[in-house]
Amino acid sequence: MTGKQMPSPINLIPGEPAIPPLGIGTWSWGDRVFWGFGSTYTRSDLRAVFESSINAGIVLFDTAEVYGMGRSERFLGEFIRTATRQVIIATKYFPFPRRLKREQAVLAALHGSLRRLGLDQVDLYQVHWPSPFLSPEEAGRALAAAVEEGLTKAVGVSNYDTEQMLRTYEVLDRRGIALASNQVEYSLTHRQPEKSGLLDRCKELGVTLIAYSPIAQGILSGRYTAENPPPGRRKQKFSADFLTRLQPLLTTLKEIGEKHGGKSPAQVALNWTIAKGTLPIPGAKTASQADDNIEAVRWLLEESDVARLDEASLYL
Ligand SMILES: NC(=O)c1ccc[n+]([C@@H]2O[C@H](COP(=O)([O-])OP(=O)(O)OC[C@H]3O[C@@H](n4cnc5c(N)ncnc54)[C@H](OP(=O)(O)O)[C@@H]3O)[C@@H](O)[C@H]2O)c1
Repeated sequence: MTGKQMPSPINLIPGEPAIPPLGIGTWSWGDRVFWGFGSTYTRSDLRAVFESSINAGIVLFDTAEVYGMGRSERFLGEFIRTATRQVIIATKYFPFPRRLKREQAVLAALHGSLRRLGLDQVDLYQVHWPSPFLSPEEAGRALAAAVEEGLTKAVGVSNYDTEQMLRTYEVLDRRGIALASNQVEYSLTHRQPEKSGLLDRCKELGVTLIAYSPIAQGILSGRYTAENPPPGRRKQKFSADFLTRLQPLLTTLKEIGEKHGGKSPAQVALNWTIAKGTLPIPGAKTASQADDNIEAVRWLLEESDVARLDEASLYL
């Protein structure tokens, strides 16, 4: 492997053309509580993220019915209406306890998402979290019905462990439907999917592992330190002690980025998830963040860089 090689495209949606191995996460689109929408960034920044991404050939957008209480899907729907090229929309079902008629609730929620998005069909419909209120088998049956009714082209799960994923996989398989993806947290600061064997199992089954929070909610950009912690709720999540322990990894990210002609730490962190065979979906609040992240699909780390990052992130 050399730095001049390009990452391989990914077949996320069965039967559809392969896409570059990166999408855009839209949790922050309209979310005031965690991300501070309306104070540091606004709707026009998000439109710029959307335009910049599709102009660069990055057409996968990941949303959910709960993001910004529906605002994320509404923004996407608004931007899609004037889009100059076809996009791929992935959204998610949230298994709230109040949703008693479990399988019907999935289809009803999908209709709600389609209304907000202004679409007749999404590309990927995912169950957001495993839950006692929706077993993996119930999820499989409901997702199969969504495909059979033409409401989605493909289906996936999110935050499922290997055993839960296999249970849904088998239900879908019996109906002749592939489980397209499992969306889980995966980054240099969260390597659980490697340690648990989930990533290997996904590869064996042909299930794309979609990596969420791939730059650790901004922490791997190198922008935050113990003296300059991230704002809002992230301040509680990432302690000063953790941010101090992270410094050697951030130094490694910078050194590797410099070696590859001035790549940013975020680009190196994203490229590491791509080198591991996953599909990262970094969030972006501004076009400049999106542009920075998108560059991660235009080159590939060398094997020795990946090994160095593996080592530097082993005992965080
Ligand atoms: N399925 C699930 O349960 C689940 C859970 C979480 C996320 N997700 C999905 O995964 C997506 C991404 O995860 P995430 O938003 O949690 O974390 P992330 O992608 O690791 O981090 C996104 C944040 O990092 C900062 N950032 C992004 N690009 C940057 C750059 N190039 N340079 C410097 N800072 C940059 C921005 O925040 P600041 O500018 O404020 O620092 C941005 O909001 C979400 O949007 C969502 O679609 C899914």
